[in-house]
Amino acid sequence: MTAPLLEVRDLRVTFTTERGTVRAVDSIGFTVEAGRTLGIVGESGSGKSVTSLAVMGLHRGTVEVGGSVRLSGQELTTLSERELSRVRGRRIAMIFQDPLSSLHPYYTVGEQIAEHFRVHFKAGRAAARKRAVDMLGEVGIPEPARRAREYPHQFSGGMRQRAMIAMALACEPDLLIADEPTTALDVTVQAQILELIARIQQERGLGVVMITHDLGVVARVAHEVLVMYGGRAAEQAPADELFADPAHPYTRGLLDSLPRLDSADDEPLPFIPGSPPSLLAPASGCAYAPRCPRAAARCTDVRPEPEAYGDGPERTVACHFAGAPTRTAEEAAR
Ligand SMILES: Nc1ncnc2c1ncn2[C@@H]1O[C@H](COP(=O)(O)OP(=O)(O)OP(=O)(O)O)[C@@H](O)[C@H]1O
Ligand SMILES: [Mg+2]
Repeated sequence: MTAPLLEVRDLRVTFTTERGTVRAVDSIGFTVEAGRTLGIVGESGSGKSVTSLAVMGLHRGTVEVGGSVRLSGQELTTLSERELSRVRGRRIAMIFQDPLSSLHPYYTVGEQIAEHFRVHFKAGRAAARKRAVDMLGEVGIPEPARRAREYPHQFSGGMRQRAMIAMALACEPDLLIADEPTTALDVTVQAQILELIARIQQERGLGVVMITHDLGVVARVAHEVLVMYGGRAAEQAPADELFADPAHPYTRGLLDSLPRLDSADDEPLPFIPGSPPSLLAPASGCAYAPRCPRAAARCTDVRPEPEAYGDGPERTVACHFAGAPTRTAEEAAR
């Protein structure tokens, strides 16, 4: 059996801060196969970005990272910074929420894509410039040769995001990590960007990790889903199963907060009451218990570990009452 494109096992990321130790990611594991999309979803602060930066090896030095990250079987966590920078950009590419933070204001968009390509492919200047224009065309930017000579501030938000994708894909990576790539965009542009990524994925068999706090985005693009809560995996499942039968109360809460097409315009969106858990002083039991409509006494005492759920091996849920939508009074006291 060949190794999966990306295999993350028992990933742990701990920051030491003035206020104490922050366990931002605690024992996260997942697999991404070529041509597949993993959606990572969770509210702000749940550890999505920290997870993706750890996969890219971008945390090194400032924090403690444990666990294993394998790309086509190759362990990345033990590579030197030099070896790793070759993997980054060439084999793994990342796009961020805010393209302005990754595009330099002083250089033209074309120069930046060309330079990125030159560094990784040791291409000549003319070849790199041509590559930049081709890539801008490929991501649907009209008049790419002219646009390549413009600066980032001359691009609209959606075009900047396309330019970021062009830069990320210029080196033909095997894996794309997209951290909230469409959050800042209006819905039409968001749909276009998601379609663009899906098309390129189909053409090239790209593996994609799509990070978002929006389950609607996950529903459109993901094959598999990891739901994070307080730095841990609440639920992991094939996307169709997760949407058909959310087993963790947090997943159910997220699904309930999805806007519905049939809801009246002035109807306020449901949201999950309460606030995210503190990572500085984690509770002994389930991190979601204080907000959970399902929580019983046991939930505040014993932390639930991810356990197999349903028929297939792919599904895990970390909940003492996985899949049971309502609780009895007797359970609440248990
Ligand atoms: N360098 C750091 N030092 C200390 N704590 C950090 C650091 N980076 C992230 N954290 C903490 O780790 C937790 C997870 O952060 P992360 O950025 O992964 O959240 P996220 O799920 O991406 O949220 P968002 O949806 O807002 O982007 C947060 O509590 C954050 O404050
Ligand atoms: Mg983030």
